[in-house]
Order: sequence, then structure tokens, then C-alpha cells
Amino acid sequence: MADRGRTAVVRIADDEVDATLDRALRELLSACFTKPGDEIFRTRRYYAQPPSWRWSIRREDRLIAHVAAHDLSIRAGIPPRLRTRRVLGIAEVCVEPASRGAGLVREMLEVAHTFGVERGFDFAMLFGRASIYGSSGYHATNGRVHVIDADGSQAVRRDALLRSLAQDVPEGDFSVDGPAF
Ligand SMILES: CC(C)(COP(=O)(O)OP(=O)(O)OC[C@H]1O[C@@H](n2cnc3c(N)ncnc32)[C@H](O)[C@@H]1OP(=O)(O)O)[C@@H](O)C(=O)NCCC(=O)NCCS
Repeated sequence: MADRGRTAVVRIADDEVDATLDRALRELLSACFTKPGDEIFRTRRYYAQPPSWRWSIRREDRLIAHVAAHDLSIRAGIPPRLRTRRVLGIAEVCVEPASRGAGLVREMLEVAHTFGVERGFDFAMLFGRASIYGSSGYHATNGRVHVIDADGSQAVRRDALLRSLAQDVPEGDFSVDGPAF
């Protein structure tokens, strides 16, 4: 049965978020992310760095689902033949508890991926579980992903999942230019 109370997936640039939406985002993120450290969402609508865009769904004017995306670049290949590629870095994926299991993550990601292709992003990347993102086309990378931690130190992440957009995903190790997200 169609869910008549809910909106389509809507995109907004993060720098256009007003005070009302900022509060609604912090409430949704705080309800969904509850591990130690996630208290940051009570006062801030992003974890490590502000994203460029957000996609969300409302039901009866209440925010029920959300995905953020960062505009990133990576360096892939073997020095000195490093190639820079544009990456849509997906973050802060969440659905309010009462609305889970209805495919809203897949729906939001589909819209975000279309946007990514239109804007010339080579591939999408996120840090998460294949059980959640596999059906949206994400696969584990066969290489190590080097990122810069919040304290500025280098770290290697092994939970990166990639999905091709305009280009195939890179093979082997690569470095994200900028902090983890
Ligand atoms: C993770 C979360 C966003 C999933 O929301 P949802 O509405 O259930 O997602 P969907 O219905 O679109 O399901 C997408 C896929 O994830 C799977 N999935 C959902 N919750 C899962 C869980 N807890 N464990 C394993 N797989 C899960 C679904 O089975 C589905 O897989 P399929 O397409 O192969 O059938 C939601 O539980 C949430 O907000 N959790 C708290 C925040 C969080 O952990 N976010 C993810 C950060 S990486």
C-alpha cells in the first residue's frame, strides 16, 4: 500500500539548512546514533565535518530518514602514477526506528547516486556494513583506505564500501584527501 503521508526524497545543500531544519536533523540523528561519541549530534548536525548535500524524507512534516554526502577526492594508483578521482562520500545514513525496514535507505541512495552521476562523481564510498548497502550496489574494497583522523593522524580503514557511479571503482590501496567522514 502506498505511504500517502510521506514525501519524495528531497535534496538540500548543507549551507542552505535553516535553524528549523538544523534542529530536526539533530533530533533525527540523535534518535538514530546512540553509541558513545554520538552525543555530538545533540549540538551539531554532522559528525566529523559538514557534508555538501543532504537527502531526506518526511512524513506528516516530520523528518523520518536522511543521508548526507561529502564532495571528496581520492588518490589511487601506485606512485608516481597517482590518479585523482571524485568521490561522493556518503555519511550519516539513518531512518527513524518506526520507519525502518521499508527500503528508505535504498530509495534515498538511488536518488543520491543519480545526482552523483549527473555531477560527474566517479564513485560513491561509505563506511558501513555490506548487509545494509549491498542491495544499493556497494562492495568491499580489495585495498586499504588511508584517511586522516580527526586528530590529524593517518589511519587505515577496512570497512570502506564502494559503488561505481560515472567510473569503475579503483582497485588496490588509495588515500582520501582530507579527514574521514
Ligand atoms: C541502518 C538503518 C539506516 C537501516 O534502515 P532501514 O529503513 O531498515 O533500511 P532499508 O529498509 O532501506 O534496508 C536496506 C537494507 O539494509 C538491511 N538492514 C537494515 N537494518 C539492518 C540491520 N540492523 N542489520 C543488517 N541488515 C540490515 C535490510 O535488510 C536491507 O537489505 P536488503 O535491501 O538486502 O533487503 C537504520 O536501522 C538506522 O537508522 N540505524 C541507526 C543508524 C545507523 O546505524 N546507520 C548506519 C550507519 S553505517
